[in-house]
Amino acid sequence: MDLPQTGILRDTFGRVANNLRISVTDRCNFRCRYCMPEEGMVWLDRRELLTYEEIARLVHVFAGLGIDKIRLTGGEPLMRRELHILVEKIARVPGIKDIALTTNGFFLAEQAVALYKAGLTRVTVSLDSLNPKVFATMVRRDYFHKVWAALEMIENLPLRPIKINVVIIRGVNDNEIENFARLARTKPFIVRFIEFMPIGSDDGWTIDKVFPTKEIIDRINSTGPELVPLEAHGVQPADRYRFEDGLGEIGFVSSVSEPFCSTCNRIRITSDGKLRTCLFSLHETDLKTMMRAGSTEEELREVISKGVWSKEEGHLINRPGFIRPERTMSQIGG
Ligand code: GTP
Ligand code: 5AD
Ligand code: SF4
Repeated sequence: MDLPQTGILRDTFGRVANNLRISVTDRCNFRCRYCMPEEGMVWLDRRELLTYEEIARLVHVFAGLGIDKIRLTGGEPLMRRELHILVEKIARVPGIKDIALTTNGFFLAEQAVALYKAGLTRVTVSLDSLNPKVFATMVRRDYFHKVWAALEMIENLPLRPIKINVVIIRGVNDNEIENFARLARTKPFIVRFIEFMPIGSDDGWTIDKVFPTKEIIDRINSTGPELVPLEAHGVQPADRYRFEDGLGEIGFVSSVSEPFCSTCNRIRITSDGKLRTCLFSLHETDLKTMMRAGSTEEELREVISKGVWSKEEGHLINRPGFIRPERTMSQIGG
């Protein structure tokens, strides 16, 4: 194999990374059952977290390597104080075209305007149920109304598109598929059904709890107007559909039944500054220690390029060789 080209983050399978997901904290004020247990989570010491200056420096280095899309994740990213300051720093980096946020929505209404003014372009809110009681069971917090109010509030801001992530778990919220489909007809939201993955801590994952995309599509089509496909399975993890008369869209993230690994364009940095080339990676590259030891941009570029070059082919969920990563989704970044 040739060595990696400079100025671009390519791997040995020919994929090019242009999408960097940055986790800004492992902490969260929710306790979603598919993500973490009620008690016993041990958080990173604050000194372990990258500072906003360190994150901005890394974004600068990554932008020089072809990254143009940034997504801020957690834990819950809005638990990090004054996140808009970080957004503003990232927005100033030449080459960055898109800054998105994945949030549980709890602090969103109060921070949305500052985030938008700082340069945030769009938001994805996690919302697993439209029934406040089921919502409270799934996230172990009675916060449905607060999250819903945040969604209504951001509808009035130019943060577009607004995406809603719904993890469907068989026997828990699969009876709400039609209601979520209706939401995507009546509101300008992109509702994304996400297959339950074995990446939480104490998440109770078993294959029979996964509700595969195909079954969701069949259910929607058999109970209402048919879904119209927007584009084929491709670079985006979500396959996109709409309704003829709908305001919004429906997306499917089929990580278990139909992984998108072969076209994956994403890489990650954990809140403690480790580069991960896959959600399910079994190894990480420690960029924080390098930066704190005084590494130059050139040295960082070289280590990052080599790290991405050896990106794994894909995950093996559901196959005999599958090994769960040591860190869980909230520790890696959603
Ligand atoms: P945009 O394309 O920027 O809108 O982002 P996105 O579609 O990746 O959105 P988001 O960050 O909300 O991701 C949606 C869900 O897809 C996540 O919550 C995960 O469940 C899943 N996901 C995201 N990245 C990966 C990945 O690298 N591998 C796998 N298997 N699943 C992922
Ligand atoms: N399976 C699928 N998606 C998950 N998320 C967290 N844990 C899991 C899991 N086990 C996703 C949810 C949430 C985002 C932050 O991470 O979609 O919206
Ligand atoms: Fe928090 Fe997100 Fe995990 Fe839910 S999925 S507990 S909101 S980090």
